[in-house]
Amino acid sequence: MKTARKDFPEGFIFGAATSAYQIEGSAFGSAGSCHWDTFAATPGNVVRAEDGSRACDHHGRWREDLDLLRDGNFDAYRFSVSWARVLPEGRGTPNAEGIDFYDRLVDGMLERGLKPFLTLYHWELPSALALRGGWMNRDIAAWFTDYSRLVMSRLGDRVAATATINEPWCVAWLSHFLGIHAPGLRDIRAAAHAMHNVLRAHGEATAALRADGHGNLGIVLNFDHAEPASQTAEDRAAATTQDAIFNRWFIEAVTRGTYPEEALSGLGPHMPGGWEADMARISQPIDWLGVNYYTRHFHAADPGAPWPATREITGPLAKTTMGWEIYPEGLRNFLTRMARDHVGDLPLYVTENGMSWDDRVENGAVEDAARIAYIDGHLSAVREAIGDGANVRGFFYWSLLDNFEWSLGYEKRFGLVHVDFDTLKRTPKASYQALARALAPRI
Ligand code: FCB
Repeated sequence: MKTARKDFPEGFIFGAATSAYQIEGSAFGSAGSCHWDTFAATPGNVVRAEDGSRACDHHGRWREDLDLLRDGNFDAYRFSVSWARVLPEGRGTPNAEGIDFYDRLVDGMLERGLKPFLTLYHWELPSALALRGGWMNRDIAAWFTDYSRLVMSRLGDRVAATATINEPWCVAWLSHFLGIHAPGLRDIRAAAHAMHNVLRAHGEATAALRADGHGNLGIVLNFDHAEPASQTAEDRAAATTQDAIFNRWFIEAVTRGTYPEEALSGLGPHMPGGWEADMARISQPIDWLGVNYYTRHFHAADPGAPWPATREITGPLAKTTMGWEIYPEGLRNFLTRMARDHVGDLPLYVTENGMSWDDRVENGAVEDAARIAYIDGHLSAVREAIGDGANVRGFFYWSLLDNFEWSLGYEKRFGLVHVDFDTLKRTPKASYQALARALAPRI
């Protein structure tokens, strides 16, 4: 690896990220059912109908996993708490075993010198709330706030940073318009309500947590570089529309209290009545912004199709096994764009960036040179963004472990550490070793 800790400003944080459902094993520790358990149990939703019931059994093996972070010379660990593990019915009586698990986990991080970066919602919506309409129900802002206050009353004194929601675009658009993630809806009105309610939940919870005395509160947004498929006016408009839905909707709501016209032109008629009155609450001040970035897409006009009337096209660059082009310039662009257009000097963290690859264990080792190059390329992009003036304070690789990649099951390996899903054996890949050397403490 060409990049090293010394190439970054003093105090820059290097971490790795995971999420609860993808690694813990939802069958363990008296967790309640969440909508990913039931989505996966329905034919056709997840590759080979795999689910997160066992996953990496991080629930049982968390000590070993935290040791990997410490031994990899990481400064921080981005993890999430499962709502259904803490509140099996989504509301009401907490599962003491669930909260105790996270309590020990956070202590375990501190004992190993790792800063805990907590995400409150990384998609494990309790089934009891999904049955009440989940993100389509206006009440979810209050349900999420109560859950967040409960978690923070136990963990808030020891976490370094807290994010409300991971990737609201996935929570709302991918799950209610494109139908790819739970609950698998393809309905513009459902999507419009979810697009708004996910932000209301963020705003309400942020206000309540701040009133409770918690600090360093943020949100994690995902971004996908949008290019026109050609220079025709129609294709340029297609890219502008997708950029508005994906890359502008959430950040403009949070920082300006507005939604972009290019997205409202389609969603407006389907928005909940009186939505404008919620915008002040949604645009609560935050303390930091998380940027998740993986790739870019091209967009073409799809005349005759209903709004947004666009078609997605994959470009010519080398791709990961997700079929995602490797395009580090997109990361530099978004970090620079966030600083310039939206957040000024607010601290930015790259909260996810990484690649899936066809990793195999051969003679006890995993040679993933492609991943080392990927990380190098994206760390260079971060350095360039810092050079542009963006206040980037840290970088988290997605993911520490190979894990349950949602509707794509266990086939897509993003980890720095290989997991054998039969034996659950962890094997650090060459990329893990390379990063550990690059992150060795400054002398
Ligand atoms: C992000 C998710 C994360 C993982 C990566 C590959 O969208 O936040 O859980 O699935 O993509």
